[in-house]
Amino acid sequence: MFAARQVFATAQRRAFSASARQATKVAVLGASGGIGQPLSLLLKLNPRVTELALYDIRLAPGVAADVGHINTKSKVTGYDQTPSALRECLTGAEIVIIPAGVPRKPGMTRDDLFNTNASIVRDLAKACAEHAPEANICVIANPVNSTVPITAEVFKARGVYNPKRLFGVTTLDVVRASRFISEIKNNDPANENITVIGGHSGVTIVPLLSQSGYSLDGQALDDFTRRVQFGGDEVVQAKAGAGSATLSMAMAGARFAESLLKASQGEKGVIEPTFVDSPLFKDRGCDYFSTNVELGPNGVEKIHPIGKVTPYEQKLVDACVEDLAKNIKKGVAWAKENP
Ligand code: NAI
Repeated sequence: MFAARQVFATAQRRAFSASARQATKVAVLGASGGIGQPLSLLLKLNPRVTELALYDIRLAPGVAADVGHINTKSKVTGYDQTPSALRECLTGAEIVIIPAGVPRKPGMTRDDLFNTNASIVRDLAKACAEHAPEANICVIANPVNSTVPITAEVFKARGVYNPKRLFGVTTLDVVRASRFISEIKNNDPANENITVIGGHSGVTIVPLLSQSGYSLDGQALDDFTRRVQFGGDEVVQAKAGAGSATLSMAMAGARFAESLLKASQGEKGVIEPTFVDSPLFKDRGCDYFSTNVELGPNGVEKIHPIGKVTPYEQKLVDACVEDLAKNIKKGVAWAKENP
């Protein structure tokens, strides 16, 4: 009898600690947009998410009502612009994902979005610093090269900056690179994992094909590199003014969130490329840089170096660093002038 009770108590304890450890609230800011909606859908399908909080300046309660009918366990709540909305949405969130902001139209660079998106991200970052200072903050809104530094400045100004918990989401570049190389090599893209480093815009995106054991030469290598750097433009042009990548970005954002959750729930060896506060190129003006990062319960566990590169790739890195430093400087300066 005693033994049976003990077994029951142990089982109960286990069940409790498992569910306590796995109670995970994820907030999406900009949840009604082209990225926000499919991202919310994918998060609703993720059994690691127990609570989904969706905020937008329009439509979020509707999106939440819709996604909330899906028969998975997580609870979904939508928040619009009522005064307490951001507080309620963010309180207790372990992960906050920010796809709020305007997307590109044909002919625009990501930097052209700066004027509009800088203030959107700053204001949402302020709310995060106040209501979820310990959450993992994942910035999707472009230009990521500048919106991540802006977010960092907001957190620094409030004394709550934790460099291990701020991420620029660059996963889509790796997703694209994996897909594009598989088209050339006729492989299964699901098994490809091309290292992409730097930032998230044009020449700041640097694929390191050599690290995956592939060698392309001449025009083929130039074409591949350019396609990874400017792959987003293909979508912007094809959508002809109706926006940029949303579905592939939602998948990439959901993958990144899943990796954070796996790592926070104790899985080891979870590695994603992401744009973080990094020591690698600080001496060349880049306080933030994307390389493969091992994730852990505290966010960034280990920042991998760029590793061995070919002379061709080194030239790409040099061009990246030059542009990226300017993008970062612009974000920091703007945040200081517009606190
Ligand atoms: P969208 O215009 O379809 O959606 C943006 C959403 O943000 C809208 O629902 C809008 O109401 C909302 N929003 C605007 N201001 C807000 C605020 N202050 N608070 C809360 N919500 C607000 O745009 P889409 O296509 O979803 O793109 C969003 C951002 O993601 C863009 O900046 C785009 O450039 C970026 N992006 C980033 C990628 C990456 O790899 N990191 C890839 C693709 C897009």
